[in-house]
Amino acid sequence: MIFLDKLNERYACKAMNGQKVPQEKVDNILEAIRLAPTSSGLQPFEILVVTNDEIKAEIRKIAWNQPQVTDCSHLLVFAGWDNYTEERINYMFDLTNEIRGFKNEGWEAYRQKLISIYSNQDEETNFQHISKQTYIAFMCAIAQASYEGVDNTPMEGFDADALDKILNLREKGLRSTLLLPLGYRDTDKDWLVNLKKVRKPMAKMVRFVE
Ligand SMILES: Cc1cc2nc3c(=O)[nH]c(=O)nc-3n(C[C@H](O)[C@H](O)[C@H](O)COP(=O)(O)O)c2cc1C
Repeated sequence: MIFLDKLNERYACKAMNGQKVPQEKVDNILEAIRLAPTSSGLQPFEILVVTNDEIKAEIRKIAWNQPQVTDCSHLLVFAGWDNYTEERINYMFDLTNEIRGFKNEGWEAYRQKLISIYSNQDEETNFQHISKQTYIAFMCAIAQASYEGVDNTPMEGFDADALDKILNLREKGLRSTLLLPLGYRDTDKDWLVNLKKVRKPMAKMVRFVE
């Protein structure tokens, strides 16, 4: 099945049935996140995989009471770095040198340039940039979940500050950006499952500059 078929089939699941997603499928979805492109390859985020029922229930309270938060199998929390730091940037550049097995003058100059750019920007500006990187990885997860036959709901309907407190994210130098419950649809309770997908026509979206 081609990618476009998967994009047509997937939908933002509104009710899940509690069935567990096999670990191998979860691992593949996490691997898709790991393989996502990010600005300068910094991968400035971590993923928390929440399966604890009590914590899920706490999160649901600050996530517009959305039932997928508790009825999912695994709740992925996307959490961006709270800021770019020299240490964090160095880690990825050093890892690149280690994996590729060589040091390169241009690459080292780029490392210094990034450190300089990000250390001259305020924390909130950096976090906004970091937050965008999590959205790219988010879509990789959604696409891979479709391939795995795993339903999911992209979610930004939650109080990020409250979630940060529940998961002690600020202490870890992280801030939550997105939620992705993974599971299987409850066809009886899901009002969206049989409705047609709505997308604006191509002509309303694309402008050709020739
Ligand atoms: C960043 C983002 C945040 C979203 N937040 C929520 C959410 O909190 N709850 C929800 O039920 N759907 C949420 N959605 C789902 C969208 O409403 C949905 O993707 C859109 O209406 C298109 O429908 P489809 O995904 O079923 O094709 C979100 C989608 C995105 C991309």
